[in-house]
Amino acid sequence: MGRNLIMLGTAILVVSLLAIIIIGFLSGMSNPVPWIALLILVVVVLLHNKLVKRNYLSWKDSYSVGIESIDSDHKKLIHLINNLQTAIDYKTDKQFEQQTLAEVIDYTKYHFQREEDLMEKNKYADFVSHKAQHEIMIEKVTTLARGYENDESGAIEALLMYLKSWLINHINHTDQEYSGFLLSKGVK
Ligand SMILES: [Fe+2]
Repeated sequence: MGRNLIMLGTAILVVSLLAIIIIGFLSGMSNPVPWIALLILVVVVLLHNKLVKRNYLSWKDSYSVGIESIDSDHKKLIHLINNLQTAIDYKTDKQFEQQTLAEVIDYTKYHFQREEDLMEKNKYADFVSHKAQHEIMIEKVTTLARGYENDESGAIEALLMYLKSWLINHINHTDQEYSGFLLSKGVK
């Protein structure tokens, strides 16, 4: 079932429950129907919030590479990706979607450059292969973003999924590999 259909179904359910609650209570507080509807409404809202929250990334201390500037970049990237999630979830206008996407891509490039400068300057042995991973990521994101600009169905969702899984996987594994080395070089 598509995301739009789920959102429409939830909206119809909430409006119907609200109507049952209002009409039910108008007919008397002893009527059990509006109370049951109220209970269902609370469960629906809690469930919806839980599902929505699951789509958002959150920073974990285990993601830290021990270098303040890099951790701060990763936190900012998580924040920007979550902004894109909000833009998609709440179907804001396309201009906002494009703007949040551009912010993610621009900051990712800025961050990669910062990381690469640190690795190169400190003669990190795996610099070339790490840089290659960055380049492959940018290439993939650029291709998906082109699909989005060409109004390909599901392109923005695919792009968001890729950004989320790539970022978490990368900061959790590949970035951890340079952590000890750069820290031993005095990078803070
Ligand atoms: Fe990296």
